[in-house]
Amino acid sequence: MFTVPLAGGAELRPLEPWQAAEFLEHMDRARATVDPWIPWAGVSTDLDTATATLQRYADLAARDAGRLFGIWLDGTLVGGTMFVAFNAEAGTCEIGCWLEPAGQGRGLITMAVRRLIDWAVHTRGIHRVEWRCRPDNTASSAVARRLGMHRDGVLREVAPYRGVRHDLEIWSLLAGETADESAGESADESAGETAGESAGESIAS
Ligand SMILES: CC(C)(COP(=O)(O)OP(=O)(O)OC[C@H]1O[C@@H](n2cnc3c(N)ncnc32)[C@H](O)[C@@H]1OP(=O)(O)O)[C@@H](O)C(=O)NCCC(=O)NCCS
Repeated sequence: MFTVPLAGGAELRPLEPWQAAEFLEHMDRARATVDPWIPWAGVSTDLDTATATLQRYADLAARDAGRLFGIWLDGTLVGGTMFVAFNAEAGTCEIGCWLEPAGQGRGLITMAVRRLIDWAVHTRGIHRVEWRCRPDNTASSAVARRLGMHRDGVLREVAPYRGVRHDLEIWSLLAGETADESAGESADESAGETAGESAGESIAS
């Protein structure tokens, strides 16, 4: 019902428990590439568990503690982005994302996450937006860098996955570092790219 147009026929919309069958079909296409990086991909394997994943986010949304959005490309669910955590009182949130292979390489996540950041910062007054990814997840850290985030540091061996404990990089964007989308898409694009490039340079150095 509520749709944010992205580019190239893609749309960002809420993803809710009543869409569990569609979500499961998408997960079946995405699981192999997404499972190592998104903890719940490996456990959303049938209608009950897919519904449970979506219901968990619906419950978080009801408490204003998280939210989940899908990305549809030409009418097919190809991925999504979410507030993994949202704390309006503390002014902090964490954003995550995923795409099945058919949705990758088009800038869909970068566009969609910009919308989430804009809403979090300019509508909800969030001060710090966080992004967490494993150091070997270079596609994810590239998104963080493209969004103008700064790499704060590494939490060592904090994330267990199939018997191995992995490091997590913490990236963040502060309210003063974001562009207001209402100022215009082209201004936003250039601000994001410039900040992203400078963040990338500081990491490389
Ligand atoms: C992380 C993930 C979502 C990134 O997907 P992605 O397609 O690289 O990210 P985007 O949608 O932002 O697209 C960026 C790519 O599209 C290209 N692109 C094309 N048009 C673009 C546009 N208008 N704007 C930005 N990028 C564009 C970019 O050059 C980039 O490609 P490149 O990396 O080859 O240079 C994907 O790798 C994934 O699902 N991984 C598994 C799950 C996961 O790791 N989630 C994150 C957990 S921390």
